Amino acid sequence: MSYVNMRDMLSKASHEKYAVGAFNIVDAMTAAAVVRAAEAKRAPAIIQTSVKTAKLYGCAFLVATVKALAKKANVPIALHLDHCKDLSLIHSCVKAGYSSVMIDASSFPFEENIRMTKEVVEMAHPHDVTVEGELGAIVGVEDDIHVKEQESHLANPEQALEYVSQTGVDVFAPAIGTAHGIYKGEPKIAFDLLGRIAGEIRAAIAIHGGTGLSDEVFKKCISLGGAKINISTQIKHAFKDSLSEYFRKSPQVYEPVKILAYMRDKVQEVIESFIEKFGSEGKA
Ligand code: 13P
Repeated sequence: MSYVNMRDMLSKASHEKYAVGAFNIVDAMTAAAVVRAAEAKRAPAIIQTSVKTAKLYGCAFLVATVKALAKKANVPIALHLDHCKDLSLIHSCVKAGYSSVMIDASSFPFEENIRMTKEVVEMAHPHDVTVEGELGAIVGVEDDIHVKEQESHLANPEQALEYVSQTGVDVFAPAIGTAHGIYKGEPKIAFDLLGRIAGEIRAAIAIHGGTGLSDEVFKKCISLGGAKINISTQIKHAFKDSLSEYFRKSPQVYEPVKILAYMRDKVQEVIESFIEKFGSEGKA
């Protein structure tokens, strides 16, 4: 069975300079699309759920679904909880069997962010569950977290070092100018900041806001140390657009399984294209 946490897959990616795609799923069909894409490309992959998705289905259902898919796959698959500041939900996910969780206490004062992150690390590590933490404020909307342009700020490099060493997080998400959702104009990425942080900390680096970044930006982020890249918005678009497309092409079909299979294949195509861009093809 290849149900794993993020530790080994991201440390290999950091050393070999490629990134593992972390794809936000919304149901069993999109989870299957991630696993099928990972298998087709022989790549490791991270299945992420937002807090809303975890609450919609319940952690146990999502763990059972992803474990069942991973068991049949011969590539490593991790199940990660994306941006969560609710410690009791994180605890439920750890207990239910998620292999990784993110504590996003970045909206709290620095000392409080450290305290909450440390609490999660102490709770998760004995279960061999990896932990991701964030510093700075990433602009855009992700689930219930809304950060306006004027409220966004980049991660402070001195604080980044202190945050990672004091908390013991496995994966670190610094705000470097990427955004959740659709970019309005050309994103201004703080590549120097990314390179400086990656050179100084021992945790793997996660890049948020992958939808809409160019191939050149992906390449540069990976060469500077990005080992995990998050993709959510583009999967949501593939989900919705494939459904609309199906109805347009075949308005008379009322067979849900056919519709779902069509949507799954379209989502899988999108995920495969990111795996190619991230250089993780053939790395499993
Ligand atoms: P996008 O929605 O921009 O792809 O970002 C995803 C993300 O960073 C999830 O945490």
